Amino acid sequence: MTFRPLNPNEKEIVKSFLRDVFERDFDDSFFSENNNPTVLEINGEIIGFLSYFYILDEAELFLIAVKKEFQGLGYGKILLEYLLNKLKENNVKVCYLEVSSKNSRAINLYKKLGFYEYGYREKYYSSSDDAILMKKEL
Ligand SMILES: CC(C)(COP(=O)(O)OP(=O)(O)OC[C@H]1O[C@@H](n2cnc3c(N)ncnc32)[C@H](O)[C@@H]1OP(=O)(O)O)[C@@H](O)C(=O)NCCC(=O)NCCS
Repeated sequence: MTFRPLNPNEKEIVKSFLRDVFERDFDDSFFSENNNPTVLEINGEIIGFLSYFYILDEAELFLIAVKKEFQGLGYGKILLEYLLNKLKENNVKVCYLEVSSKNSRAINLYKKLGFYEYGYREKYYSSSDDAILMKKEL
């Protein structure tokens, strides 16, 4: 199991797996170097993806995803733990994220790793779903 930065020539592979997971397209900002596009690879296959930003002691998680056929096997937790350790090593003190109130799987994962709700945005997404704002002190 390897965590590593996304190679620019792998962008289309990841875009296609994200399309499969979210049923929508993601713009290039998620893959820009500033947003630390990171893959989880197993036996040469990319099965997970993270995109996040940090500056000084604050971070924001933009995207975490596990390939459909690998979901529910613990890889989401492994990816998020990897991120939290990496942030700690870089002296980040707090990590923020937002998540659809309907995404109970992701919310469960975030709570399990110590994130808590600190805010709510009604009809935040284009689908008109509400957003839950979460954070974790590191
Ligand atoms: C959310 C996501 C990253 C979680 O990764 P995963 O590999 O499926 O999750 P894990 O197997 O590591 O499970 C971690 C925890 O998530 C929760 N979880 C996992 N599957 C779940 C399910 N079917 N229903 C509810 N909670 C679930 C549980 O709390 C679980 O911990 P436990 O197994 O110890 O009880 C993954 O399912 C995914 O890519 N989903 C689609 C994309 C997405 O919604 N991303 C988040 C918003 S950007």
